[in-house]
Amino acid sequence: MAAEIIDGKAFAASVREKVGAQVATLVQDHGLTPGLAVVLLGDDPASQVYVRNKGKQTREVGMHSVEHRLPESTSEEDLLKLIDALNNDPAIHGILVQLPLPEHLNSDLVINAIDPAKDVDGFHISNVGLLGTGQKSMVPCTPLGCLMMLRDYHGSLSGLNAVVVGRSNIVGKPMAQLLLGDSCTVTIAHSRTKDLPSVVRGADIVIAAVGRPQMIPGAWIKPGATVIDVGINRIPKEDGKTRLVGDVEFDSAVEVAGAITPVPGGVGPMTIACLLANTLTACCRANG
Ligand code: GUN
Repeated sequence: MAAEIIDGKAFAASVREKVGAQVATLVQDHGLTPGLAVVLLGDDPASQVYVRNKGKQTREVGMHSVEHRLPESTSEEDLLKLIDALNNDPAIHGILVQLPLPEHLNSDLVINAIDPAKDVDGFHISNVGLLGTGQKSMVPCTPLGCLMMLRDYHGSLSGLNAVVVGRSNIVGKPMAQLLLGDSCTVTIAHSRTKDLPSVVRGADIVIAAVGRPQMIPGAWIKPGATVIDVGINRIPKEDGKTRLVGDVEFDSAVEVAGAITPVPGGVGPMTIACLLANTLTACCRANG
């Protein structure tokens, strides 16, 4: 029987609706408007699309949106000055510096210059440490969106075997921490993992976050498992155009899995919805 399709687009719309309602209450009852600043260096087309979507959705839920588009050649000193100004701006509750940064900049240094309370990406070393020790933190948006969909589908995740394929700081590692926090038995697999097919086959939950188009076929999936596909890969079509695919071979996996997220329309929309939720959380925490 074909898997249930987890509709991330619809889920994200419901998250945005809830965030929008809470923003309206904050504005009405407390005169407070959550504000998000997004900083983009250079003119990478994919990053430009993300940033445009972030700004649009921020405004749609009634938040204050600021975009700083800087030349690729911006110096570290100038970027750090901007971050310092945003850290001290009471109208800004969330700061996101779009990654990857140009090569002449030290990403760790830049990310760690953001006030941890405004770090809506959850990438600051303080937030990484808080998450890793089970304390209140800002949680990275993509893993948070995956967790929300998993909790919605399963209810409790306690005791389930989860395999996270990919060990990035943005997705793989924080995803593993979140699943551990929900009492899963967690394996992090990566490019050096021995016998990846059998590791994946042992999982009740598979998180695919490697960035390799259709790398995980249905034959690796345990029947009935839940598959969350974080990959967004553009591959050529026969007509010379391109199409988006995930890290999972959807057509074979959908026949084996119990539930699966599609690409597009799965994890992607949840990431921005969680960014808005984090900005709301940052605003509420900043104002007691
Ligand atoms: N680039 C790709 N994904 C992300 C993300 O979640 N946050 C930031 N800041 N940059 C990204």
